[in-house]
Parts: sequence; C-alpha cells; structure tokens
Amino acid sequence: MVLLLALYVSLLLLIIPSIIIYKLWWIPLHLQRVMESQGMRGPSYKFLHGNTKEIVKMKQQTSTTAMDFSHDIFPIIQPHFYSWTKLYGDNFLHWIGTQPEIVVTEPELIKEILSNRDGTYPKRKVKGYFKQLLGNGLVLAEGEKWLRLRKLANHAFHGDCLKDMIPAVISCVETMLEKWRNHEGQEIEVCNEFRLLTSEVISRTAFGSSYLEGRKIFDLLLKLAVLINRNMLNIRFFGFEKFTRTQDDIEADKIEQLLHDSIMKIVKRKQDEVRKGRADSFGNDFLGSLLKVHHDTDPKTQISAAEIIDECKGLYFAGQETTYSLLSWTILLLAIYTDWQDKARQEVFQLFGQENPNSEGIARLKTVNMILYESLRLYSPIIVITRRISRRVKLGKYEFPANVNVAIPPLALHRNPDIWGQDAHLFKPERFSEGLAKATNGNATAFLGFGFGPRTCVGLNLAIHEAKIALSMILQRYKFTLSPDYVHSPFIILTAQPQRGVQIVLHPL
Ligand code: HEM
Repeated sequence: MVLLLALYVSLLLLIIPSIIIYKLWWIPLHLQRVMESQGMRGPSYKFLHGNTKEIVKMKQQTSTTAMDFSHDIFPIIQPHFYSWTKLYGDNFLHWIGTQPEIVVTEPELIKEILSNRDGTYPKRKVKGYFKQLLGNGLVLAEGEKWLRLRKLANHAFHGDCLKDMIPAVISCVETMLEKWRNHEGQEIEVCNEFRLLTSEVISRTAFGSSYLEGRKIFDLLLKLAVLINRNMLNIRFFGFEKFTRTQDDIEADKIEQLLHDSIMKIVKRKQDEVRKGRADSFGNDFLGSLLKVHHDTDPKTQISAAEIIDECKGLYFAGQETTYSLLSWTILLLAIYTDWQDKARQEVFQLFGQENPNSEGIARLKTVNMILYESLRLYSPIIVITRRISRRVKLGKYEFPANVNVAIPPLALHRNPDIWGQDAHLFKPERFSEGLAKATNGNATAFLGFGFGPRTCVGLNLAIHEAKIALSMILQRYKFTLSPDYVHSPFIILTAQPQRGVQIVLHPL
C-alpha cells in the first residue's frame, strides 16, 4: 500500500511539471514558431508573464509625463502597439500572460474579422471585474441571445424613439448650462460637467430614471473601471483566484452587489407603477422594452431579472463613458481651433437662431458633424476592439488555431498616412466635408470610431444627437478659449480621457 502511494506521488511529481512545461512553455513557443514561419512576428514569449512586464513598463514611461500639444496620441496611450507595429509590421503576435493575442491593423483583415457572422470571431469571454462591469448583456452576448437583445436596442435607439428623446436631452443640457452661469468670464473644467450630463441623459432616455439614481450607478461603474484598469495586466494562474482574494476583489464584489441593488430599485419602481395602474405600460425606453420581454409568457423569448441587470450595467457604461469622452475632446479641439468654433456657431445660429435644437435642424448640422467625426478620429474613446478566434481559420495569408485573441486598435488606423494623408495627425474636419465614405476613400474600416459590421455601436445615433444638441446649446451661449491651466495628458480608464480635465474660459455672447 505504502509502495503504491509512493509510486502514485512520484508519478504525480513527474506528470504535473511536465504538463506545466508543455502548456506554459512548449505550446506558446510552438505557436510563436508556427506564426513566424507564416510571416507574423512579435515580441518573444516570456514564461508565465508573456509580454505583460514590457507593456506595463512602456505604459509607465509614457503615462507619467504630460505630452507636447500633439493630437498623435497613439504612441502615448498605446506605446506597445505603436512600437511593435513599427518593429514587426501591421499585424503582430504578442502575449498577455500565457494568452496569445494578435494585433491587427490591416484594413482588409479587420473587415473580414468584424463583418463575420458565422461565429468565427466572437466577443471574448470575459472574467473577473470586466464581467462584473458589463455582465453578459448586449455588449458581450453572442448568438440567439445577442440577436434578441440587439433587436430590442435597435428599436429603442432609432427612428421615432430617438426623436422622442430630444426634449429630455435638451432639458439635461439646460440644467448643465444653468450651472455654467456661475462661471461666466471665468474658467470651468468641463469633463466633470459632461460626465454628469451624459449620465443624466442615458438615465433618463434609456431607463426613465432620475439624475440621482443614475449618478449613483455611474459612480459605482467608475469605481469598477478603476479596479479593472489597475488590475488589467495582473496575471493570475490556474484558477487560484478563489484562494488568493485581494482587497480589490472584495471591493469589486461589494460594488457589484450595490449595482445590483440600485438597478433593481429602478426596475421595481417601474413594475410597481404598472401594477398599481399609475402607468398603462412599461414605456418605450430601453428598460421598458426589457421589462415587456421579462413579463412575456413565451419562455423562448423571456429574459430573466439577472439578464435585465446585466443589460442595464452594460448599456449604462457603453453609453456614458464614450459620449462623455467625445464631448470633452471636442470642446478641447474647438477651444484651440476657434476658427472652427466660429464656423460651427454660425451654422447653429443659421439653423436654430436662439431656439432650442429640433430634429430637422439636428440632421442638417453638417459642420458640427464634421467636427465630431474628426474629433472621434483623433481621440477615439474606444481604444481597442476585441474579438476571439473560435476555430482554426485562414485570415489573409495567415492560418490561426482556435483560442487566439484579437485586438484591433482604432487609433492605429485613424493615424495611418496611407489612408488619411501625411497630415493625418492634424485636426482637419474638412476631411469629412463629403461624408465618411469619401473621407475614407471607400475604405470602410479606416474609421472605427463606432466599430464596423453587425456589432457596430447601437447607440451611435443617440451619441451623435446628444453631442450635437449639447454643442449647439453651448455655442449659442458662449465663445470659449482654452485656459492656460490645461495640461495635455491623454490616458486610459477603459476609454481615452483627458487625465487632468479640460479647462476652458467662458465668454458669454
Ligand atoms: C461617442 C459615443 C460612442 C462611441 C465612440 C461608441 C463606440 C462603440 C464601438 C466602437 C462599438 C463596437 C465595439 C465592438 O465591435 O466590439 C460600440 C458598441 C456598442 N455601443 Fe457604443 N459608442 C458610443 C455611444 C454609445 C451609446 C450612447 C450607447 C447606448 C445607448 C452605446 C451602446 C453600445 C452597445 C450596446 C454596443 C454593443 C453592440 C453590439 O455588440 O451589438 N454606445 N460602441
């Protein structure tokens, strides 16, 4: 018996290290060699950590210093992508721990990946804090579930529903501008203002909830985003997470519970209103559509309360952080390029005079639209679009095995001189004067501000409407210039943001 046990233990001692070496050393090196033989190079794999240490170091070097006043932010906020595309070519392989990830910046390959509909390139399976932030809602769902949720969201954010949202957006902007009166002739930091504005807009338009409720949810989501950022490149092994819980893990669980409670409160209130006869339906907003389906008697289409929570979390985050970032960068650009500010103001006055924006006029804001697209090109809030390769596949001249991650950095395309010309890093809204297709020379994936293919941003129209309304109402009231206190320091908390805010001086008209 003792002999058997000793034999068993020595076998284990032999087998376990062999498996570890095979999985964590031989397989990565083998994949690296196979890809090299196909012409895809990249930084070499390091045992367990992959390239994470190099990435952290490069990011630390660029994030601690404020940059010169250049709009070429790619080398600063994604220095590893920048250096490695220069060194290894448009597409390269690198390693996040033991996980292989290909970085793709070649438009044709991106088109193939993002337009795929047969499940070859699904969204990644996320774990940990990311899952707590986005849940398994529309942003991450796949297959039938995605189709069902996407239909609901398409309906809630298009056509007449979008038109119906305009008064709510205007009222949110009016509330913000009421506060700005106290800053006339003085400096104001606008990022915080836009954070509050965009939280209120999404709370009211998508969830029919109040500013305070929305604010609480955003504060919690932002805390989770900070935890994600802090732990993004921390590699944890072999499912030992359960046994090595950190302070951040405990904090994330607490936040998740608070998020759940806050969202349930809004859901319950809406349900109670219908139950008590104070409202005859759940309403046309996104939460209303979700609740209708939740109460559906057909189990095939019904969605659970947990799914509603996931959906709300994802949409709150996807809809707010991005639009806030777009508005902040756009105001910065208009504060610098006052000639464009004047042109935009002239257009706004021509269309609306002193009146609030209306649906027909919003559609005709051509100059403002050009400015917004140029702002999205230079300062794309989404800095990486991610996918996974689910099965062995041929992509361009490469053949990949399953379970390789894909990263597409929009900024790499947005600054490509072959597409945008040698002045790609300059602010020139006139590029978009004849529309997006002309600006990109028909190269559909040259502009990825809102993504591409079936998973293109579902809130695109809401975001553009919201930004146009906010800009129009600001331009009707103020000229603004950049404060000398502004420090150019773009950084990432999941989206690209001005690290030290955007300070402008307000001059009432
Ligand atoms: C300037 C503002 C915005 C930008 C730059 C932006 C950008 C993007 C991008 C690049 C994607 C594609 C991601 C991918 O392919 O993996 C996306 C998807 C998405 N966005 Fe936006 N977005 C913005 C505003 C909004 C708003 C206001 C909402 C909500 C109303 C929203 C909700 C979503 C959702 C739910 C998805 C996932 C769609 C799907 O997978 O089917 N976004 N967004």
